[in-house]
Amino acid sequence: MPGISRRNLLCSAAALSASSLVARSAWGRATALLAGYPDAASAEALMAVAPREQLLFDFGWKFQFGHGSDTARDLGFGNGQGDFAKTGEFGFSKAKFDDSKWRTLNLPHDWAVELPFVRDEVQNSHGFKPLGRRYPETSVGWYRHEFEIPASDLGRRITVEFDGAFRDVLVFVNGCFIGRNDNGYAPFRFDLTDFLSYGAKNYIVARVDASFGDGWFYEGAGIYRHVWLTKTDALHLGKWESAVCTEVNGDSATLTLGTIVMNDGKQAENAKVSWQILDAAGKTVAAAETPAQSIAVDGSANFTSTAKLTNPALWSVDAPNLYSAIVTVEAGGKARDAERVSFGVRTVLFDADKGFFLNGKSIKLQGTCNHHDHAGVGAALPDRLQWFRLSVLREMGCNAVRTSHNMPTPEWVEGCDRMGLMMMCETRQMSSSTEGMAQLEAMIKRYRNSPSIVLWSVGNEEGQLQEPMAEQGAKIAATMVRRVRELDPTRVVSAAVNGNNEKGVSDAFDVIGFNYSLQLPEGYHKEHPKRPLYGSETSSAISTRGVYTTDPLRNTVNAYDSVVRWGETAEEWWKFYGTREWEAGGFAWTGFDYRGEPTPYGWPSINSQFGIVDMCGFPKDTFFYYKAWWRTEPALHLFPHWNFEGREGDVIPVWVYSNLDEVELFVNGQSQGSQKVPHLGHVEWKVKYEPGSIEARGSKGGKIVLTEKRETTGPAVAIRLTADRTEIDADGEDVAILKVEAHDKEGRPVPTANNLIGFKVSGAGALIGVGNGDPNCQESDKEPRRSLFSGLAQVIVQSTKRPGEIHIEAVKEGWDGPELTGAKLVITTKKAVPRPAVG
Ligand code: GAL
Repeated sequence: MPGISRRNLLCSAAALSASSLVARSAWGRATALLAGYPDAASAEALMAVAPREQLLFDFGWKFQFGHGSDTARDLGFGNGQGDFAKTGEFGFSKAKFDDSKWRTLNLPHDWAVELPFVRDEVQNSHGFKPLGRRYPETSVGWYRHEFEIPASDLGRRITVEFDGAFRDVLVFVNGCFIGRNDNGYAPFRFDLTDFLSYGAKNYIVARVDASFGDGWFYEGAGIYRHVWLTKTDALHLGKWESAVCTEVNGDSATLTLGTIVMNDGKQAENAKVSWQILDAAGKTVAAAETPAQSIAVDGSANFTSTAKLTNPALWSVDAPNLYSAIVTVEAGGKARDAERVSFGVRTVLFDADKGFFLNGKSIKLQGTCNHHDHAGVGAALPDRLQWFRLSVLREMGCNAVRTSHNMPTPEWVEGCDRMGLMMMCETRQMSSSTEGMAQLEAMIKRYRNSPSIVLWSVGNEEGQLQEPMAEQGAKIAATMVRRVRELDPTRVVSAAVNGNNEKGVSDAFDVIGFNYSLQLPEGYHKEHPKRPLYGSETSSAISTRGVYTTDPLRNTVNAYDSVVRWGETAEEWWKFYGTREWEAGGFAWTGFDYRGEPTPYGWPSINSQFGIVDMCGFPKDTFFYYKAWWRTEPALHLFPHWNFEGREGDVIPVWVYSNLDEVELFVNGQSQGSQKVPHLGHVEWKVKYEPGSIEARGSKGGKIVLTEKRETTGPAVAIRLTADRTEIDADGEDVAILKVEAHDKEGRPVPTANNLIGFKVSGAGALIGVGNGDPNCQESDKEPRRSLFSGLAQVIVQSTKRPGEIHIEAVKEGWDGPELTGAKLVITTKKAVPRPAVG
């Protein structure tokens, strides 16, 4: 079939592992797939061959605020006296410096989420946190860590690697300035080999300055992603240079293998590279080796080879099968360096007439755009929480995510690879400047082996580059697309464009994305019949979870599929994209609510209302629209709740989302009539409120298949605690995500409960954040208390490295309202092998 798939190659690779971790069947089982860290089988194989060490550098950092304008409060740094003049003179990264009064914390860390909310009319899209040049006291943070380097490391290359920090970072080691980073999302790293003391203590300091922002949404502040200390032989693989490209030919796949080896040693080396290909069970299924090449001192060499997989297990949404390639460099009869690259085998095709194909099968991109912050933790998400978020999206039938508007964390990509979510992976800056290209290259190299990525995006809504700077826009986009193709010849390139796609950047793209504006794609399709199309950003529907009135005095939006002026309701956009064969599908704005952009209100709203789920991942009603039409099993969801005390006699709209043929509604046992469910629509009754119950009975082929009831509950009498998992790993990283509810004396959750609940957490873990999904709640994310909102709150607890039990107790706080019986929950933290870490 003609269409656009970049040489119809299906390259990719990312991070998978043992069969027990692989998502075999899809929906609902998602979190179970992520039971642990790297695959034992292939990790062992890797360890057996080479002396590479990758140590997590997250634990035991010291932290203190600096100052954006007062050097005296910024460790005296930057007073204008030869600030960067001499190497070795930065006392704060030397042994004598006293950091005993600094706070101790673990990464990932976002200090923005810890700050109070501040009303600010100038800067209202970042979540009302005091960050930026007008808040010098809270916009600069210093991180410091002492670490030991054994004498035996002499001769190895030692690199510190940051997965991302917000935002401008200066790094110092042992008194020496090492380097800087000036963007909020791309990874960066520094070779420390020459600066370290071997067989001694070393000191690293990072000054992180969040005075400048990148986006128009909440971005966090600090080292909010993982840090690594990587030690390799002087003869080593180049960072992210190993690529596995796969091409399916009938029932086999050809693997094109490539990498770069660098020689940072003292003598020329005669090196060769081998690839061992493992399936998900750790069984070797193919192998390849190159002839040896001589690599001069300070030189590098490319190595390539091919291998073949017979009857490969294809990666798909329903069966995200993954393979690993162990890439090994050998010289002098020894394995000198090795790494594991995960990849998958699949074909991807965007067709201008027929839409999107995965492995030759037509499938729509049922996508959501997402920012990366979560309740309680801001932008600093433990890995498990990222996977939890993906599982929430999968649960509603979402099969694709767009990482708007920046490159994602490795864990988010790994989660998509493992759980079978496709991705549109987006860089932050649409620019062919040195910085823009560096960000783009980091993203492509870092993630080009991930089978989940089906589309690269070089940016979002760059109005100036469409018009009036269309000429420059065309050049910038073309340069970026050319570079993507050099680094990854297998994938198509696009961007999220708000406009008619006729001018500026769009010509360069393989696939044309439309943000909003449902009136435009039809005409474009007629004018440009050879260009595949999809909805790069759609909807912007808004709603407040569990609230059924729009009230500008309370900043609430009713949950019946409301929408902003420029957007489309869930039904409108999906009826458009879901019914046109030539549309590949699209990405709704947004899956999760996020801090910042409190549209359509301002202060005191501190987060968006665009989410299909709230900041905690609790579903709003629209979630069930998608669930009904994006999944195939019978679905039925009835709303609103039936607790409208004081509104007796008012007419209340009652809606049902369902994919069944017909639904009959009963109010207090009396039929209100039956209605046929329109394709991709909903059914609605207008009903006079009286306490009691509403019930929907959905039928297919004349048979009742599903029923759902909402009852007027009594007052809340007790708290209930449940967790996503009651057993987690004692690795200092894993988390349990707790749901807090209040129920009436019959055990029914009270959907309007708003009691303030306090939490006591003790034992082998700690509380790391709380939330409730209320876009207008300015309670602390970090204090051990939270009000319920529409009956719910969330508590996140994290294990320590000591196995045992985490005891969580929830009690009513505050004087108002009736007493509530408290609740207790125990999370067991089981012995686990923590990831190798800097001690
Ligand atoms: C889009 C933009 C998003 C978000 C959204 C809100 O134009 O790309 O980042 O701001 O509007 O509707």
